[in-house]
Amino acid sequence: MITASAPGKCILMGEHAVVYGHPAIAIAIDIRSYCSIEPISKKLIEFQMTNYDTHLKFHDLTEMKKQMPPQFSQFSEVLGVLMEKFDIQIESISIRLYTDLWSGAGLGSSASVAVAFLCAISEFYNLNLSVEKINEYAFFMEKIVHGTPSGIDNAICSSGGALIYQNGVPERILLPKFSFLITYSGLPHDTGSILSSLRKKRDYLDGSLIEIEKITEKGIKAIKDKNFTLLGELCNLNQEILSNIGVSTSKMDEIIAISRENGAYGSKLTGAGVGGCVLTLGDISQLHKIQFILKKLGYSSKITHLDYNGGRIESK
Ligand code: PMV
Repeated sequence: MITASAPGKCILMGEHAVVYGHPAIAIAIDIRSYCSIEPISKKLIEFQMTNYDTHLKFHDLTEMKKQMPPQFSQFSEVLGVLMEKFDIQIESISIRLYTDLWSGAGLGSSASVAVAFLCAISEFYNLNLSVEKINEYAFFMEKIVHGTPSGIDNAICSSGGALIYQNGVPERILLPKFSFLITYSGLPHDTGSILSSLRKKRDYLDGSLIEIEKITEKGIKAIKDKNFTLLGELCNLNQEILSNIGVSTSKMDEIIAISRENGAYGSKLTGAGVGGCVLTLGDISQLHKIQFILKKLGYSSKITHLDYNGGRIESK
């Protein structure tokens, strides 16, 4: 059996603006998704997504493409592309997917699972897909899931580490392995529908997106200067604009306010917003204190770290 994994991601700054060609800063996080593939004796394709209690069986890829529930069609579609490109027989296999990420929470769960899946498929069929190719196929899958994503999620989940991402071009940026707090606001979001509703307000958005770009540029400098307190303050400014464009929620605002009142360097939503997660930067002892206060209010959070590893094989 082959098992591959890939990290989730967190956007430090620049979400939404990145969809329109502005820069964003993304980091891979040490919460991962997994894909295990093994041969089976029956002439079937078994597909399991344990987080959703999904266990499906198909006689062949044609049936899989026809009968796959829409929320998982990216897997059957990319298998079709790989089968044609590499002339492989997708049969007599069991595919099991699992993620430790909250789904629909701004942590790139769909991209993370896609990258883990592609790494496992590449290893199983000896395709030798490079990180760039994994990223390309994961982007193909992300477009099926989210419509018009920027490509930042698949880029960071395949490469790991930290990236400045603009216009489809990832540029590595060096960051020390720091800790931060990720808190789930309690409701998932649907990135695709948030992106399409913002796209309808494009003219009204432009000024805000330019403001986000200015903050992100300062954030890149703060990272280069290793100035985390300034980075936190810039996160606060970025949050104000995200709130103005309507993607924050009262729960997210509450988590952010508690974080700031309790000594965080800064706090903001991360990812598409309208639910999902809040990112809090601060000294580790403050983060523990904030986590404790949030827990008493019913919020789940995780102390998380930058992960330098992208998609990788765990065992074979
Ligand atoms: O919420 P997530 O993990 O799907 O992240 C979306 C990030 C956006 O910038 C809002 C969209 C994108 O494609 O870049």
